[in-house]
Amino acid sequence: AQGQFVPAGSWLPIIFNPSFPYRLTHTVIAAFLTTALVVAGVGGWHLLRDRANLGARKMLAMGLGMVAVMAPLQILAGDEHGLNTLEHQPAKVLAMEGHYDAHPDGAPLILFGLPSDRDERVRYAVEIPRLSSLILRHDPDAPLPGLKDFARDRRPPAAILFWSFRIMVGLGLAMLMLGVWGLWARWRRRLYDTPWLHRAAVAMGPAGFVAVLAGWITTEVGRQPWVIYGHMLTADARSPIAAPAVATSLAAFVVVYFAVFGLGVLYVLRLIAKPPEAHEAEPRRTPRHAAGITPVATFEPTNREKDA
Ligand code: HEM
Repeated sequence: AQGQFVPAGSWLPIIFNPSFPYRLTHTVIAAFLTTALVVAGVGGWHLLRDRANLGARKMLAMGLGMVAVMAPLQILAGDEHGLNTLEHQPAKVLAMEGHYDAHPDGAPLILFGLPSDRDERVRYAVEIPRLSSLILRHDPDAPLPGLKDFARDRRPPAAILFWSFRIMVGLGLAMLMLGVWGLWARWRRRLYDTPWLHRAAVAMGPAGFVAVLAGWITTEVGRQPWVIYGHMLTADARSPIAAPAVATSLAAFVVVYFAVFGLGVLYVLRLIAKPPEAHEAEPRRTPRHAAGITPVATFEPTNREKDA
């Protein structure tokens, strides 16, 4: 009545909503995968220059090992996530799949094509019959609704979702293949002697970041036009702030973020460019932490230094 959506008594049902376990699992695995791919990519980069570098070998072995474990888990988690989304945000999944029409007796999986919201169809669709029903309902003949079952102004923009979803899934499958290739090379005892594997690891180094962004776009664009699904439209949630004020703060964000992250990325790339040194000693010093989360630049003396 007051134009507010506050759950009776507690915010916990909002945080622990029905998609929470799926999102948490999928996003945490995404973080593990992204990290593993960067480590494997940096290891591969240095092995292409010096195959004997022990540090680089360890990075490649551990990174690819992690990818081999996490990529199949991520695909399983993503599949479960999709089933949950179909239950709670069906229009999102229908847009991801490019289903404008309902399919009463089994929907095909559209691999590629050009979705057009205006024409309400996917042009040049390449599809596999009934596979979408098999994936989403575990039954090839199961019916699936279509976007046309929703009013035009209650649908997300299908083209963005169709492609962001394919980028995420495509990269997930590429990660799986990289992990399997790594296992195969390890089994053949050629993990450090397969330059094409090292090149593939370098090429896939940034793939985790791209997949995470694609997943995020799928999630956020996919819930449009709702800010609170089925209850409140994004258009009704906007703040009464004039466009120039929004543009100014956006411009400030762009400038500050480009400067801060730009420098950060340059710094990290310079660190990455340095090969791990042969026989590099284990870290000896324990950084002491300040009261907050920021490490301070002082070190506890090691026991050996204390003795000395
Ligand atoms: C390969 C198979 C994959 C499938 C089937 C899959 C499935 C999904 C689905 C259905 C969503 C959207 C769900 C929703 O918003 O309701 C999603 C979101 C997401 N995906 Fe994937 N995914 C896959 C691979 C990946 C990979 C490889 C990564 C990253 C390394 C990734 C990262 C994400 C992220 C970060 C989100 C956003 C989650 C959120 O904000 O709640 N996904 N995925």
